[in-house]
Amino acid sequence: MTTTLSTTGLDVPLLEARGVTRRLQRTTILHDIDLTVADGEFLAVMGPSGCGKSTLLYTLSGLEDPTDGSVLWAGEDHSTLDGKARSRRRLLEIGIVFQQFHLLRNLSLLDNVLLPGLLARTEQRTVLRTRAEQLMTQLGVDDLTERGVGEASGGQLQRVALARALINHPRLLVADEPTGALDSAATEEMMDALAEISAEGTTIVLVTHDAQVAQRAHRIIALADGRISGDRPAPGNG
Ligand SMILES: Nc1ncnc2c1ncn2[C@@H]1O[C@H](COP(=O)(O)OP(=O)(O)O)[C@@H](O)[C@H]1O
Ligand SMILES: [Mg+2]
Repeated sequence: MTTTLSTTGLDVPLLEARGVTRRLQRTTILHDIDLTVADGEFLAVMGPSGCGKSTLLYTLSGLEDPTDGSVLWAGEDHSTLDGKARSRRRLLEIGIVFQQFHLLRNLSLLDNVLLPGLLARTEQRTVLRTRAEQLMTQLGVDDLTERGVGEASGGQLQRVALARALINHPRLLVADEPTGALDSAATEEMMDALAEISAEGTTIVLVTHDAQVAQRAHRIIALADGRISGDRPAPGNG
């Protein structure tokens, strides 16, 4: 029998949403969502603007709690962890690329990528710096290390945000429209990078408007008005 925390695969899903409902004020944004994401799976989430995609990502990552229902991480409810353990999980195991990047303006782009690594304190600064530079090279933004947020394009910031999300080798990468600001060549490069990350075993949940981007995943779910309206396999990367 495999153990729950083996790195070679789980005998429970990495993520499981059970009856997840999310209400804000009087609006119900997510309705009774049941969804499992297997360890190592690459899932794309599609749906029109305002249907709840970002809210679903935040709820799955444990940034927000469901109003009803629960989200299990490797079989354990996110909400059973205290604040500190939850922050630690967020920092070490979950990489998030936000739709609006949320990069810090008072740091260089390299320092933005380094920051979660420094906060984690699991590796030496020189090791982290090498990794940060490698990630920025892999994503084609290595010439921007000393620049600030105001000195890069939206597409470049999107790639820097991805590098930051990967610095601590997360088990789960969550990306909210990471190709939204990219032209088709840069989109292709971003998807090649995500395919590589997926092939290394990282679980990915990706929100996208672009059907061609979604085709690079293993599975595509459609969201409409806060409900899952479709769930089908995708060709994936192989
Ligand atoms: N903090 C909030 N307060 C009130 N309504 C919100 C809040 N965040 C999101 N919403 C609403 O919830 C719905 C889903 O939002 P969101 O998850 O951002 O959708 P998507 O990412 O699919 O565009 C939208 O109608 C949005 O206006
Ligand atoms: Mg959104």
